Amino acid sequence: MIKIEKSRKRYLNIPNNTNAMKESEISRAATIAGILFVCLFFVPFVPPAGAAAAEENSCIRCHADYWEEMKGSIHSQQKIVCNKCHGGDPAQSDQQLAKAAGTGYIGVPNKAQIAEMCGQCHASVETMNFYGIRTDQLAQYKTSAHGKKLIQDRDERVAVCSDCHGYHDVISVSNPTSPVYPLNLPKTCNKCHGNKELMKKYGHPSDIFETYSESVHGKALYEKKDLSVANCAKCHGSHGAIPPGVSKIGDTCGKCHINEKKYFLESPHARLTQDGKFSECITCHGYHGIKHAGPALYDQVCIKCHDAASAIHKTVAEIATMLKTEGETIKETENLVKQAAVEGIFVENEQASLKEANTYMLEIGPLQHILNVSKIGEVYKKVKTITDDIKGKVLKKRKSLQWRKYALYPLWIFIFVMVVALWIKYKQLMKEKNLNQGTKRG
Ligand code: HEC
Ligand code: HEC
Ligand code: HEC
Ligand code: HEC
Ligand code: HEC
Ligand code: HEC
Ligand code: HEC
Ligand code: HEC
Ligand code: HEC
Repeated sequence: MIKIEKSRKRYLNIPNNTNAMKESEISRAATIAGILFVCLFFVPFVPPAGAAAAEENSCIRCHADYWEEMKGSIHSQQKIVCNKCHGGDPAQSDQQLAKAAGTGYIGVPNKAQIAEMCGQCHASVETMNFYGIRTDQLAQYKTSAHGKKLIQDRDERVAVCSDCHGYHDVISVSNPTSPVYPLNLPKTCNKCHGNKELMKKYGHPSDIFETYSESVHGKALYEKKDLSVANCAKCHGSHGAIPPGVSKIGDTCGKCHINEKKYFLESPHARLTQDGKFSECITCHGYHGIKHAGPALYDQVCIKCHDAASAIHKTVAEIATMLKTEGETIKETENLVKQAAVEGIFVENEQASLKEANTYMLEIGPLQHILNVSKIGEVYKKVKTITDDIKGKVLKKRKSLQWRKYALYPLWIFIFVMVVALWIKYKQLMKEKNLNQGTKRG
């Protein structure tokens, strides 16, 4: 055992992959520190951890602490030992000979070396085929904003494999504590993209994480734990991390929002994207801070290019009016049906029709991207017909219920009259009886 004191210090100072991992890291560090402390006393008496492997591998014999650090990583489970990444000759037990020139020893790698180091296995179909893991990460990385900057400009501040995955503690990407697991990923990017000083140098904003967290996507991720929602890597690519260029943005959003994309392509704006005058979705929705979209967006966004006096604005207003009235009509009808049910009116059929109207309304959401008055109008009319029909029926039922109530009035009056008549008759009979008894006695 070497470097024990140094290692203990190092372990207690572990750099974190993500904040989410902090607690588990600390408790792991504490356990390891405990083990090391025990080792400190027993080193002369018991062989160090990883003894079996240490027999054959000199790296591990001298660096048992690092081997311990790798325990639990996906690589150590595959017996991927130090020299596979750092080079050197593990058959030599002498430190100098183990790291002599010609052994391929690289020491602590710089970032460019790290990409190649991970790539020697991960870009090799031969190695990875057995595990069924794709082999395009290095090739894609080289096309990314990060990779280009690193390889062409030797800029070490960009992200390389180990910045996103860790290095000695790499775990499966589907493990919930992995730094690239959807719930942890935005924070992993934010280690650098939230660094004001660093981002200023490149002219990038440093509040993307905050903006994203408040967006409809971020909220779905953090509040609903919806892992399928857009995150940094789903839009930018995991390895080909390029800002989606103007012509690529629809591909990104369109992967998930298929119908919106389909109708957008039939809209008058579609051809404008070819000349870069319009960027598919983000011209209207933005990107990091995308919010829930409603008809109000028409008032905010169209006016930027179609001023209120223009001919196109008439079309804009027409579509917006349809969307707004449609929403309001459905709400109104829903309330009417609810109220009717409370009044004791039988509304099962109307509730079923309402469901149908709601399906059409859901259809209009994506469909309105076509920006064609007659096509949107067709569906709008269906909603209008159904809701008008429901309203008519409910009002009719309410009236007939009222009529039935009115029809009862004569009956009540008749009963009342009968009661009064009987009462009078009774009084009369009683009077006569009293009179008869009086005359008898008299
Ligand atoms: C005889 C013991 C011994 C052997 C065998 C050994 N190392 Fe080391 N290694 C050391 C010592 C001592 C240091 C220096 C520690 C320090 O300065 O903090 C070191 C440092 C390192 C470093 C840090 C960078 C550097 O060069 O200072 C790496 C990486 C490393 N060794 C990897 C390996 C690998 C890979 C092997 C197997 C091929 C290996 N070591 C074999 C003892 C050994
Ligand atoms: C999967 C590849 C991989 C394996 C296996 C691996 N290392 Fe590393 N190691 C790295 C990378 C990458 C870095 C550099 C990380 C950085 O600086 O960002 C590193 C850094 C180091 C350092 C510098 C100090 C530190 O912690 O950053 C030492 C020492 C070291 N490794 C020793 C070892 C030893 C000893 C083993 C075997 C027990 C080992 N490594 C196994 C990839 C690996
Ligand atoms: C900017 C961050 C980032 C960098 C840099 C990065 N990765 Fe990844 N990597 C990810 C993300 C995110 C995923 C998860 C993809 C998913 O969940 O489907 C991933 C997934 C993987 C996987 C699992 C298989 C796959 O492709 O989905 C491997 C293997 C991998 N990366 C290796 C590498 C290697 C090797 C490098 C360096 C050449 C690298 N990564 C660089 C973020 C990164
Ligand atoms: C010696 C070959 C080798 C090297 C070098 C290597 N890996 Fe791996 N890596 C593997 C193998 C093999 C697996 C698959 C293990 C399994 O599936 O059980 C793997 C798995 C992974 C996974 C998990 C993939 C998944 O499907 O979840 C990631 C992430 C990963 N490696 C990243 C890296 C990074 C980052 C580096 C460089 C620091 C690196 N690897 C270096 C061989 C290597
Ligand atoms: C180790 C720090 C680091 C990490 C981690 C990191 N980045 Fe970066 N990234 C940078 C730096 C520095 C730049 C600036 C390079 C430039 O502009 O040329 C950059 C540039 C970018 C760009 C290009 C911006 C542009 O317009 O040129 C995108 C997109 C990007 N990163 C996305 C991500 C995503 C997504 C993640 C997480 C999966 C991530 N980054 C993780 C450091 C990092
Ligand atoms: C819904 C998709 C989406 C998500 C999620 C997303 N981005 Fe972006 N990002 C974009 C688009 C679109 C652009 C603008 C590209 C353009 O203008 O060409 C962009 C631009 C950027 C830029 C360049 C600077 C800028 O603001 O123009 C960086 C850096 C960046 N994103 C990083 C991130 C990080 C980090 C995350 C996660 C916290 C993230 N992005 C999440 C779509 C997304
Ligand atoms: C010309 C501006 C504009 C463009 C371009 C645009 N949208 Fe929309 N989008 C809107 C408006 C306005 C709404 C709200 C409509 C409503 O009230 O139902 C909306 C609604 C949405 C909704 C919610 C709709 C629903 O189904 O309820 C999604 C998702 C959406 N857009 C995605 C996209 C995607 C993806 C693209 C790119 C292919 C895109 N949008 C392009 C203006 C636009
Ligand atoms: C990985 C899949 C994915 C990608 C990529 C994606 N989204 Fe989304 N988006 C979703 C999901 C899932 C929701 C629903 C979130 C929720 O539950 O609230 C959503 C919600 C939305 C909404 C709100 C819909 C509403 O009901 O008001 C809009 C607008 C939107 N996305 C636009 C975009 C745009 C624009 C892009 C590209 C810049 C994009 N999305 C990229 C999956 C994605
Ligand atoms: C970034 C600027 C921009 C924004 C924002 C924008 N448009 Fe446009 N739109 C254009 C341009 C440019 C044209 C083509 C003008 C022409 O052909 O004269 C166009 C054409 C149209 C047309 C076709 C008119 C015709 O007769 O061919 C309609 C309809 C339209 N836009 C509706 C909308 C609506 C609705 C919104 C908001 C939801 C909107 N636009 C937002 C730039 C924009």
